[in-house]
Amino acid sequence: MQITQTYDITQSYQFNYDRGPVFTTQPKASPLGPMKSFLGLEVRSRLGISAGLLLNSKWLLAYAQRGFDILTYKTVRTSYRPCYDPPNWVFVEDDGGDGPVYATDRIPENPTQITSAVCFGMPSMAPQTWREDVQRARAALAPGKVLIVSVVATPFDGAAARDVADDFARCAAWAAEAGADVIEANLSCPNVCSQEGSVYMDAQLSRTITSAIRAAIEKKPLLLKIGHFADPAKLRTFLRFVNGLADGVTLVNAVSRPVLRRNGRPVFGEPFAKAGVIGRGIHNASVEGLRRAGEIIRAEGLKLALVGVGGVSCDEDARDFFDTGACAVLMGSSPMYIPDLAAELKSRHPEW
Ligand SMILES: Cc1cc2nc3c(=O)[nH]c(=O)nc-3n(C[C@H](O)[C@H](O)[C@H](O)COP(=O)(O)O)c2cc1C
Repeated sequence: MQITQTYDITQSYQFNYDRGPVFTTQPKASPLGPMKSFLGLEVRSRLGISAGLLLNSKWLLAYAQRGFDILTYKTVRTSYRPCYDPPNWVFVEDDGGDGPVYATDRIPENPTQITSAVCFGMPSMAPQTWREDVQRARAALAPGKVLIVSVVATPFDGAAARDVADDFARCAAWAAEAGADVIEANLSCPNVCSQEGSVYMDAQLSRTITSAIRAAIEKKPLLLKIGHFADPAKLRTFLRFVNGLADGVTLVNAVSRPVLRRNGRPVFGEPFAKAGVIGRGIHNASVEGLRRAGEIIRAEGLKLALVGVGGVSCDEDARDFFDTGACAVLMGSSPMYIPDLAAELKSRHPEW
């Protein structure tokens, strides 16, 4: 069955970056509704897109026009970083477990049921390119739209914690200067084998980085994007360590699982046998992760907001996160194949 695909997964990241999204329909009229508050900023709704699909201002502004109100610019770095060779994104069959998932061409007829896997390696354009482009995006966004810029460090071999924190802070300062309303530090990426992929597992390093970014961006809202914590005690330690420095936590990033072809070969190549699984298959675990984080925040009296991400493609999914205490709900992959999702959710739920 043919579903809308605004990102051409058979092509390279650069091809999609240059071309922008392709929509097969005109945007649906998006109800305006009352303004809401998100991290102290005025926003038309608390529905948006997480770091990933919005490769540049072309993507970001096209999706803003289709009704998404919180727009995250895909993770950028302080130096140019090419993308891994394609494939970078495949549809997968998911058995609901936590073992391997298998690539498939058979896409569910109902797009809300899609699970997929990504492996890009956090590419970044050169700073001059993305700084100008972020400026362009902010200048063109209407009132009531919030621009988050996701940043990450690029540690050199043997980098100390201080070096990683300084590079994070430099990247965040540049993003803030270019016009980001909110900075999101990406502390988790299942597809990079170097240090920046799993920072969130190290509470002290996360604190050092968060503290350096806070000093660099002063009072601008700061989110930390984290992955799944198997051990609730580690999640508690992480939250305690960043409390008072960050404004909130975005959870979760993709879930790391083997992504294979039916012949057992890794889809993204041997070094990336495990990659980031996203969409329907991670929804329940993502809501559970946010629920746990919320319980810890309340029990310990921490001051951290929670932004929900993971397998949101219909009303029930968004409600799961709002009911669990999310202050906003972001979608990673579903806007690729359901580009009017925010407009549809807002028409049925003006309160979101
Ligand atoms: C094409 C694509 C690229 C992504 N790249 C990033 C990234 O650069 N930084 C990041 O923090 N997350 C990235 N993600 C992860 C998403 O932000 C999100 O956490 C994940 O897709 C789970 O949400 P979903 O189940 O709604 O897709 C990417 C996701 C997609 C679909």
